[in-house]
Amino acid sequence: MTLRSGRALRSLPGYPLAGFKERRLELEADGVDVIDLGAGDADLSPPRAVIDALRGAAEEAAMSRYPFQVGLPAFRRAIASWMETRFGVTVDPGTEVLPLIGSKEGLAHLPHAVLDPGDVAIMPDPGYQAYLGGTVLAAGEPWLVPLRPENDFLIPLDELPRDVVTRARLLFLNYPNNPTTASAPETYLRRAIDFCHEHGLLLAYDNAYSEIAFDGYRPPSILELEGARDIAVEFHSLSKTYNMTGWRLGWAVGNRDAVAALSRVKSFVDTGAFLAVQAAGVAALGCWGSWVPGNVRVFESRRDRAVACMCAAGYEATPPKATMYLWIPVPGGEPSGDFARRALDQEGVMVLPGAALGQGGEGFFRIALTVPEARLEEAAARLGRLR
Ligand SMILES: Cc1ncc(COP(=O)(O)O)c(C=O)c1O
Repeated sequence: MTLRSGRALRSLPGYPLAGFKERRLELEADGVDVIDLGAGDADLSPPRAVIDALRGAAEEAAMSRYPFQVGLPAFRRAIASWMETRFGVTVDPGTEVLPLIGSKEGLAHLPHAVLDPGDVAIMPDPGYQAYLGGTVLAAGEPWLVPLRPENDFLIPLDELPRDVVTRARLLFLNYPNNPTTASAPETYLRRAIDFCHEHGLLLAYDNAYSEIAFDGYRPPSILELEGARDIAVEFHSLSKTYNMTGWRLGWAVGNRDAVAALSRVKSFVDTGAFLAVQAAGVAALGCWGSWVPGNVRVFESRRDRAVACMCAAGYEATPPKATMYLWIPVPGGEPSGDFARRALDQEGVMVLPGAALGQGGEGFFRIALTVPEARLEEAAARLGRLR
């Protein structure tokens, strides 16, 4: 039998870095010292307390049982308590919190919970692939809105076509934003909440980078704002905050009906994150105040070094207020994919072409602050030779 994938799957774009990984391996086999600034996956370690908590929990037989969607009650309580400490948001751990196997999982499953076939989900372009993938696989219709510098990389909500808005049920927003690094002012977030109220949309607010912020900036939770709880569900992740990308742990929080619907979808497709990992999540949230600032200082210092070196190398790099990326215009109007390919082939540097996360990202490339400063300096010097 020749397997033919379904129409929805066929309509999805290819893997953003298809071909790049293979090329990297070839270059490394030839002795090239490749610097990988492509993926948002830092070289840093999780907190010691988290590793110890996992080890301890793994020894307990009870942790090897099925987690189901309830998960570890202590993790739900730790999330609720952190939401209160960090944002002043009070949530019920039983009904307004849902542990996820990484936030990507929840973002991708949410459309299955709320869309009927043909319903529109409005999303940023470029944007994290889970929004598009989840929507298309749920037979929804994605409406991609380009994030442009002239709009401060915000979705211009009041300029969306009326018929699209009428058919829309879901709006994905992500600030601090990957890949553009933009942050959203509170006035914009208030408008987004009103917009969702006016048009009957659920707002999926992706806050994966809420804790990687610099110069005293403290990204808000959408749930801090009035009226949000009626229409919004927010997604958090331990991946970037604690250098735990591989551990697969995050959560959804907010509107009770949305949380319940997402939990129901998940009950048909997964059985929850390993309980010992959830116990480690309790330890992670417990050391937030003492550990996270030091980790953020590492990213801040890398940001400053990378911006300085990229500018010295002739690029228009500006310092972002948040996230672990720089979003830089591709010089000379070269397509971002061609530029990224040249960066790898000629200089052994992996960057993410802007168009890899959607055509709206064309004209830019992203570098991730995932390697030590000396490597960022070296990468910038090499990229300078491409100009
Ligand atoms: C914007 C955004 N949202 C969500 C995620 C997913 O994070 P995780 O599934 O590791 O929690 C990422 C990861 O890169 C991201 O960039």
